[in-house]
Amino acid sequence: MATPYSLQVYEEVTSTQDLALASFTADPLLVVAARQNAGRGRVGRSWMHAQRAVAASLAVRPSWPAATWTTLPLVAGLAAVDALGAGIGLKWPNDLLLAGRKLGGILVESSGDFVVVGLGVNLWWPEAPEVAAALSNDDPGPDRAIAIAENWATGLLSRLGSEPGDWGRVEYVARCLTVGEEITWLPDGQGIAVGVDADGALIVDTERGLERLVAGEISHVRLA
Ligand code: BTN
Repeated sequence: MATPYSLQVYEEVTSTQDLALASFTADPLLVVAARQNAGRGRVGRSWMHAQRAVAASLAVRPSWPAATWTTLPLVAGLAAVDALGAGIGLKWPNDLLLAGRKLGGILVESSGDFVVVGLGVNLWWPEAPEVAAALSNDDPGPDRAIAIAENWATGLLSRLGSEPGDWGRVEYVARCLTVGEEITWLPDGQGIAVGVDADGALIVDTERGLERLVAGEISHVRLA
């Protein structure tokens, strides 16, 4: 069956984001690499690479108005949870958590009227740092990484085919481990996360009343 994207697979790249950004023309493009030597994470961080990892970027021109793109990071996180199977939760806005540790993440970058959505997942990492998790104790091999990337891209494109208001908020809240928890954020925020708004903002009950955290503006959310 034809895929709804074209696929480029590499052994090693700087960042799959760079290649997807440079190669995108009009139709969805999925770039997957076995290794990145300059992978990037959210808020300007670099992205550490597990020994076996999914490193994938999907370039796409969403039909949604740009004002609604605030939900894209959350939609991409939902599609990742779908592609990875049971036991994975989301930390708002889009960290993938396994047993309380970070399994992966999503990076959304835009360029004009298109976006490049990156997915990083640790599949096998024998000497992972304390804060990180990996999906498997054994190397699942490169084909598994590509298969997860393809399932994620197919699911994400399917979700992008819905109306922007139907982005999956209820489903997201059900998979979001942050909602219901006490959280802190920089520089001095604190409260209980009580929900997710239609635009993807996290709603937090604080001593000043209900506050909305917008993903792009918040540098660091912690479960307290
Ligand atoms: C985060 O900080 O949690 C987001 C991490 C996103 C990493 C992925 S790996 C594939 C794609 N290419 C990159 O350089 N970054 C994203």
